[in-house]
Amino acid sequence: MMRNRGRPVAALVSSLALCWSFLAPPAAQAAPPPPPLAATPPMGFNNWNAFGCDVNETLIKETADAFVSTGLKDAGYRYVNIDDCWSLRERGPDGRLVPDPAKFPNGIKGVANYVHGKGLKLGIYGDAGTKTCAGYPGSLGHEELDARTWADWGVDYLKYDNCNNQSDGSQEDYIRRYTAMRQALDRTGRSIVYSICEWGTSRPWTWAKGIGHLWRTTGDISDNWASLRSIIRQNAPLAPYAGPGHWNDPDMMEIGNGGMTATEYRTHMSMWAMMAAPLIIGTDLRTASAETLAILGNRELIAIDQDRLGVQGAVVSDENGLMVLDKPLANGDRAIALYNSTDTLATVSVTTGETGLRDAGAYRLTDVWTGATTQVKSTISAAVPAHGTVVYRVRPLRDPTAVAPAVALGANLATLVPGPAGGDSTPTTAVPQPTDGGAPVAAVPDPTGGGTPTTTGPDPTAGGTLTTAVTNRGVGTLRDVAVTADVPEGWTATPVTPARRSRLATDATLETRWRIDVPASTPAGRYPIDLTASYRWGPRHRPATTSSQVIATVVTAPEDGRRHLSTISPVTSVNATGPLEPDQSNGGALENDGNLITIGGQVHTRGLGTTTGSELLYYLGGRCSRLVTDVGIDDEAPGGPATFTVYADDAVAAASGPVTSGEAPKPLTADLTGTAWLRLVAESETTGTHADWASPVLTCGDVPDDSPVLPESRTLFSFESGTEDFTIANPGDGGTVAQSPLFHTEGTNGLKVSTPVAGNWFGRPLATPLDLTGATMLKFDLKAGDAGTVGEIAVQVGEAFSWCQGGLWTWTNAHSSRTITERFDQISCPTGITLDRSDIRAVWVFLNTGGEVFIDNIRAE
Ligand code: GLA
Repeated sequence: MMRNRGRPVAALVSSLALCWSFLAPPAAQAAPPPPPLAATPPMGFNNWNAFGCDVNETLIKETADAFVSTGLKDAGYRYVNIDDCWSLRERGPDGRLVPDPAKFPNGIKGVANYVHGKGLKLGIYGDAGTKTCAGYPGSLGHEELDARTWADWGVDYLKYDNCNNQSDGSQEDYIRRYTAMRQALDRTGRSIVYSICEWGTSRPWTWAKGIGHLWRTTGDISDNWASLRSIIRQNAPLAPYAGPGHWNDPDMMEIGNGGMTATEYRTHMSMWAMMAAPLIIGTDLRTASAETLAILGNRELIAIDQDRLGVQGAVVSDENGLMVLDKPLANGDRAIALYNSTDTLATVSVTTGETGLRDAGAYRLTDVWTGATTQVKSTISAAVPAHGTVVYRVRPLRDPTAVAPAVALGANLATLVPGPAGGDSTPTTAVPQPTDGGAPVAAVPDPTGGGTPTTTGPDPTAGGTLTTAVTNRGVGTLRDVAVTADVPEGWTATPVTPARRSRLATDATLETRWRIDVPASTPAGRYPIDLTASYRWGPRHRPATTSSQVIATVVTAPEDGRRHLSTISPVTSVNATGPLEPDQSNGGALENDGNLITIGGQVHTRGLGTTTGSELLYYLGGRCSRLVTDVGIDDEAPGGPATFTVYADDAVAAASGPVTSGEAPKPLTADLTGTAWLRLVAESETTGTHADWASPVLTCGDVPDDSPVLPESRTLFSFESGTEDFTIANPGDGGTVAQSPLFHTEGTNGLKVSTPVAGNWFGRPLATPLDLTGATMLKFDLKAGDAGTVGEIAVQVGEAFSWCQGGLWTWTNAHSSRTITERFDQISCPTGITLDRSDIRAVWVFLNTGGEVFIDNIRAE
């Protein structure tokens, strides 16, 4: 999405805002009090996720029409909300905000009338700072007038953002700025839902009840799985803070925008409903598919979200990426969600005693996605696909005999290596086979061994092992139980232990081990295996089946060449704190929350950030010869001492010995000739020390020692000879640049930039066009000063110096550092212009903060 942050100011169009006052008819009797606002989580639409700044009257009106025609209005969706970029860049002569007449020819009032005419409500966007995030006028210091203006226009909902906030960062300041608008809204006398959007920065759940009706709890969502998973992680534990009129807001939905699978979008809807989250649609409803509309319009989930008790589902358990939520409902039922955030099929279970369900001999489960009804005795359990969520509406059941029993069909599957099982007919290493959820089990060294080398080596030519588990959770014994595995063509699945059982009692499991063989020519990738359990149930021996799909991961060795190890995905990774972080330090519990890897003051832009207690496993298939790396404890969090060990299969190929904090990076070289599996292990007495593998390079195949390290990168500006003519795009907005040795990731110097609060572009037009043919992305390294900053890259192309800019910007916290990346395919140019990579005329980076920021090594990769 295009953000015009800091672009040259548009011509000022003055317009006289119409004054409109609401004259209430004299009341004969006291009117009944209006229903409380946001008594259940608000439901509606906002244009930002799908359209960014590209908002206008037609879109809003057509969306209102779509609410009606798609049935979403009937399903409960009410608010049609306008996000950033609706106004002119300057206030009017009377100080009021002015709707951009090109986007809203009938003003906001015109569009409000239209939306109201459909029985719907209208929302607007403002900012508790000097400018909005996209650089339009903010409301800080203008609260009274702006609230009055919006009320005059007939606005029913305000999303109030936090950019350019002039804040000292204290919670008091957040409370002050957001309360100022609360009071201004109150004084208008109009009922306006107040949505606080400060990204969870000041922990609004601790103070915003009674001020806002909802508050964002996280940074911006984006349309990908990592973002969704991370937001659920952050929002779920905040359940105690939500209730009628005061909701946690994990951000607007991405359902339908194309970046996730249907399974992931169903998880999105399921978890938003379980978390009593506002349901604000973020996709183009005029073109939404039937599948998207069915997800957004799921009545069962909407009923769970909108339940009048208004309780956010509590986290009952959260282990190994499997989470169970329990939400009480007004009619006495409970909604139970089984959420699997792992990358593999997993069985997620909870006993009824762990939930708020009252004691009963049996329970009835209604699956909100399939509508299927089953019964359980005392454990609610399902095999949930990777990234999937099963939601049941549950209530006690008196007579279970007429209801089908719930049967879970779980599976664990080894990582598979293509090749004949020939020469070795023994099954692969026997590994413990949990029947319930848990981490993927691979027929490779056990990655959960906490760094202890395993004694049985993997067999790279032996396919892998599948374990299936059929569990009867219902009241009553199952008969004639049989399980089958349907593998891709050319593969074979052979049961090694029995795949049938004549009787299966309540809570008993039929566990079967299978040997899977994969043809040698099979490319690396993910392949579905369909599992089916058939059985008979009840006094009349009725036949039934349960099926699951498990995804097989086939691994192959890396391609020839010298390559940054951080660009190769490990087969498995175990890390003590949060995920393994490629090309940054470990940071903390969240994904992508580290800094540039820094050891003894030396910065590395490539590497793997882990914490001790970590083990990374790579499949090499005997095709690689060497790993060269530096290791050390990251300066961001002194700790240790730690040890780093490289295992080639089960043998130690390189070991650091104890490494202490502040020490210079230690070089290691490991000979990997003939190695099938490479394991990197970092350990310390107590886990959690920030341990870095800095600039690791893996050599595979027969390549010269001096061949370039892939992916190749080309430095455009490294500031070794000065500022390299860097200038400021909008001189009127301010900022300075100077060469500085204080931060550098290339050579010995970088650039110190002082930025205006609302930001500016820093860079330069080029005398000769740059040819970046073949490059796929632009990058630069950044270190933020006291206040943090936003980083983004734009280019100008062609003779007309057309401005092309990406939608992606990265917020960097105070005093942290990172590489800012912008892929060429995410950069968009003005209509009619193509981004010709061979004709780059200028390169600009965007920075803001009102303080010092350091950058270096602007490069193409
Ligand atoms: C911030 C908000 C987003 C969106 C944009 C608009 O990033 O968090 O939801 O409103 O600003 O510029």
